Amino acid sequence: MSDDDIKNMVETVDVSPRDPDVPEAPGADVFRQLLHQAVRVADMANAQAMRMALDFAKVYEREQGVRTLFEAQLKQMTLMEKQATRYAEDLAGMLRSERERRQELERALEQERIASEELRRTGLQGISHLLLAATIKDRTTGTHLQRVRRYVEAIAERMGLPGGLVEEFGYSSVMHDVGKIHTPDHILQSEHHLSDDEFSVIKQHCIDGEKMLGTARFFETARAIAREHHERWDGKGYPDGKKGEEISLAARIVSIADVFDALTSKRPYKDAWSAEAGLKVIEAGAGERFDPEIVAGFVALAKEGMLERISSEVAASQPDDQLGSSAK
Ligand SMILES: [Fe+2]
Ligand SMILES: [Fe+2]
Repeated sequence: MSDDDIKNMVETVDVSPRDPDVPEAPGADVFRQLLHQAVRVADMANAQAMRMALDFAKVYEREQGVRTLFEAQLKQMTLMEKQATRYAEDLAGMLRSERERRQELERALEQERIASEELRRTGLQGISHLLLAATIKDRTTGTHLQRVRRYVEAIAERMGLPGGLVEEFGYSSVMHDVGKIHTPDHILQSEHHLSDDEFSVIKQHCIDGEKMLGTARFFETARAIAREHHERWDGKGYPDGKKGEEISLAARIVSIADVFDALTSKRPYKDAWSAEAGLKVIEAGAGERFDPEIVAGFVALAKEGMLERISSEVAASQPDDQLGSSAK
């Protein structure tokens, strides 16, 4: 506060009026001035104190507001942190159970693979028993079936079929005549021309073969082959007269391999034809008896020497081949 302020304050202070009849005591003026001054100073101090109090109240209020806001935000952050922790725990739990589920799935898949491998082995054992019975009954040679299988695999491979399918066509092909177990011996081994009735009994081996091979997925291709290996591309085959691509691919392949091998093998009623003569019959049957595209592939295999190689390898692997009859 400046000196001027103090002076103004003293001059404006109103104290009790002096009685004009009473003589003024000496120094009364000075005293009054001092009193005015004291009152003004007190007023100013009060005003100042009031302003400071108000300012302080404002600052306090603002700080309180900030503090409340800060506390609210802190509370919210704590909540969020708790929530984030819970999410993280949930996520970790989910990942854990996902990992456990995956491990369980991998274990199940491994068991499935083992079971499937065992089933495959059982199936292949079943095939060998069936074939043993069929070959004894039909006097078919084991080498005939081995060559048919190798020819079928070579054709399928040349056609670019996947390895699994090539293998399936191969093992399924050896069952093409299993239905002959039910064919009476006198018809099966007859060397004279078959009557119509006898021929209809022969045709039955396709249907019997399909039935004997049950319903398992493992024998699905084998069933198709057993049923359709005497069907013809032109629809004049048996037992159903299917034609073209109505006949399964596997059966169309087996049909060529089976006829070629029957022609080029020695039988009790005929000598073995040369590979060239056998191949001519196959080529002549293209588009009539056989699928022309498969015939083309088969001829190409012959030209590459593959058929001869297969025949030699099979002969070398089983020298005690028996003679028999097949492909009636
Ligand atoms: Fe047959
Ligand atoms: Fe055969």
